[in-house]
Parts: sequence; C-alpha cells; structure tokens
Amino acid sequence: MSAKALAVLRKTWQVASMTPALDHMELASSPERTTRLARLIAPMLVAGDTILLDGPVGAGKSHFCRALIQARMSDVGVLEDVPSPSFTLVQAYDLGGVEFWHVDLYRLGDPQEIHELGLDEAFTQAICLVEWAERLGDLRPRDALHLTLAPGPEADARVLRFTGPPRWHDRLAPLIKPGQVHVR
Ligand SMILES: Nc1ncnc2c1ncn2[C@@H]1O[C@H](COP(=O)(O)OP(=O)(O)OP(=O)(O)O)[C@@H](O)[C@H]1O
Ligand SMILES: [Mg+2]
Repeated sequence: MSAKALAVLRKTWQVASMTPALDHMELASSPERTTRLARLIAPMLVAGDTILLDGPVGAGKSHFCRALIQARMSDVGVLEDVPSPSFTLVQAYDLGGVEFWHVDLYRLGDPQEIHELGLDEAFTQAICLVEWAERLGDLRPRDALHLTLAPGPEADARVLRFTGPPRWHDRLAPLIKPGQVHVR
C-alpha cells in the first residue's frame, strides 16, 4: 500500500472513530417516564453544565427540571419545594456545595436582563437549567445540552430530543445505547 493510500485510510479511520454530535430522541409516554429520564441525567451534571430547554407551553420543561433538581436534592438529603421560576425568572439552590440555577425566560423583557440576572456568570459556575432558552439568542452557551420537548402521540406522551456537541454524546451514552435504558 502506498504512503498516500495509508494516509487517506488513517484520516478515514480518525474521522470514523470521532464521537459524533448528540442527536437523540426519547418517547416518554407519561410524566413518570420524563421524571425517570431526568433522574438518569441528574448525576451526570457538574458545575459549568447547562441544559437549554425549549418547547411549547405545557410541554414538560418545568416537570423535567423539577424532577432533575429533586433528584439532586435527595442525593444531599435536602427536601425543598421546586417552584416554577416563571415569575422570578431564576430560582437558585445550593445543593451540597453545587449551585443550581433554574431559569425561565418566558417573561424576559430586555435581553440586557440576562446580564443583570448574572446568568452569563452562572453558566460558568453553576449547573443551569434554562426554560425558553431560545430567548437567550446569541448568549446561549455553545457547549450546552439542548433538550426540546414536544407533544407525543397521546395526551400524556412527550417526545424529548437531546442535541449537543460530541461530549454530550459521550456523557449520555448509557441513555443512547440500545437495550441499556428503557424509558418508554
Ligand atoms: N410525558 C410527560 N412528560 C412531562 N410532563 C407531562 C407528560 N405528560 C403529561 N405531562 C404534564 O404536562 C404538564 C407540563 O407542565 P410544565 O409546567 O412542565 O410545562 P412547561 O413546558 O414548563 O410549560 P411552560 O412553558 O408554561 O413553562 C405537567 O402537568 C405534566 O404533568
Ligand atoms: Mg415551565
């Protein structure tokens, strides 16, 4: 084999072995299934991680966030309400030394408010769950996990689509590998 052919082969192998970007869908046939998904993802998150949530009113964004935060609360023995931040815009929690920011941007007035809230700093230091994330515009963290929820085939079903850069593909691997996790 020529050196050139070998180089092409190496390049092909390199590309093929690279982790792809994440694009994964789950059908949650009930609120409890969405809760289970959130509980599976909860332990994967570390400070500096952000989940950007989008989807229409009533899609289950708050349901997912609440389940995830409550899972982390129970890990550190905290029992607290997780109210919707739709009026306050932000609800923050200190859970075992890790800050959690639950954000709802539906009522965001001026994009300047994002800076005033300190959200850009929180993206680097806290675990942030942001509902109506599309309102962040260009301020969306590039390395975030994006979760889009949409109505499913039945009243209590939701389609959850997870997208994100390759590192999220690696982290969510237990969810993605067929046969390992049954959420339906
Ligand atoms: N499979 C499901 N997953 C999640 N929630 C579901 C599901 N099926 C039904 N629901 C219900 O849908 C509702 C979702 O409400 P939720 O407040 O989470 O929506 P939201 O996307 O945050 O809306 P908003 O844009 O108003 O903030 C809840 O009452 C929840 O019980
Ligand atoms: Mg909500």
